[in-house]
Amino acid sequence: MSVLEKAGLRVLHRFDPETAHGLALRALQLGLTPTTGTVTSARLRTTLAGLTLPNPVGLAAGFDKNATALRALSRAGFGFLEVGAATPRPQPGNPKPRLFRLTEDRAVINRFGFNNDGMDAIAARLKDRPRDAIIGLNLGANKDSDNRAGDFATVLATCAADLDFATVNVSSPNTEKLRDLQGKDALAALLDGVMQTRTALARPIPIFLKIAPDLTDAEIADVAEVALASGIDGLIATNTTLDRDGLISGHRAEKGGLSGHPLFEKSTRVLAQLYHATQGRVPIIGVGGISTAEDAYTKIKAGASAVQLYSALVYQGLGLIPDIAHGLDALLKRDGHANVSEAVGTAT
Ligand code: FNR
Repeated sequence: MSVLEKAGLRVLHRFDPETAHGLALRALQLGLTPTTGTVTSARLRTTLAGLTLPNPVGLAAGFDKNATALRALSRAGFGFLEVGAATPRPQPGNPKPRLFRLTEDRAVINRFGFNNDGMDAIAARLKDRPRDAIIGLNLGANKDSDNRAGDFATVLATCAADLDFATVNVSSPNTEKLRDLQGKDALAALLDGVMQTRTALARPIPIFLKIAPDLTDAEIADVAEVALASGIDGLIATNTTLDRDGLISGHRAEKGGLSGHPLFEKSTRVLAQLYHATQGRVPIIGVGGISTAEDAYTKIKAGASAVQLYSALVYQGLGLIPDIAHGLDALLKRDGHANVSEAVGTAT
């Protein structure tokens, strides 16, 4: 981390976490953050569900919920970006405070509840997106919707023209009963609706499904079965956890989803189980607790074709991204892999 970035983070951490996040986004919008440009190499370049990524290290959903900092983020060294979650109608989310730093645990708890500007505002910003980046949208459902399953398809139809991929997010713990949509029948019906909408698009884009880390073995097997039958293009493992095991920070009892370092092992185990259950037939994006190149490499060896991260940025800043990408390149080289895909699933 540069001296400047260290000083910037120290200042940001004097503010409450949500204000600090707003300031970080503002700094990005104003071009005040260092830009790395594209990080790539023959080893790092890879394809994911037909998308060509300069490197496999992506930004996880929730950092840029409203797609307001795409230009700066596209120059931060990520191989791909996921923005959102977007819901059909704008909604304020849960009352504040709703974001907590667990510094001693290198973790975050959030209970935002899909606060966002709504799909029309987000679609308008996506029209002006940088075209040299891979950008996807996390699809969400309104809290007071009477057809939550339908909401995912509605957001997809509205925003798809300016997207490279979209993610069905049925795994946020902060919208009551949303996770029930991960059940076998509900999930099959929901994905059927989304895939029909995808087929009707002028330019069909890959559809991913993001799942929770708190599923039982049987539930993971069901998700794998439905994913394969539905024809979706990828799985994202995982979202935040309700688990609070082993935490020491003051905010450990706050309600919401836990992310960051304590999520690493659990989310990697779910990823490996999914990889085993789908036998590599559906690419998986590994997310949860990545803060080093070694972490990213562990996810890839457990079956991830690409990775994403968010919480580590809170503690280490955006300069972490090129470090992870270059570090991953060195690890692939060390182990004699010519590219990322050669390493996928080598340690399941
Ligand atoms: C998230 N995450 C998230 N995921 C999602 O699918 N839709 C969303 O809107 C959000 N929002 C969100 C907000 C905040 C503040 C955090 C910290 C996280 C989950 C995120 O994309 C990721 O799956 C987890 O955070 C695990 O990765 P990290 O943070 O441990 O790298």
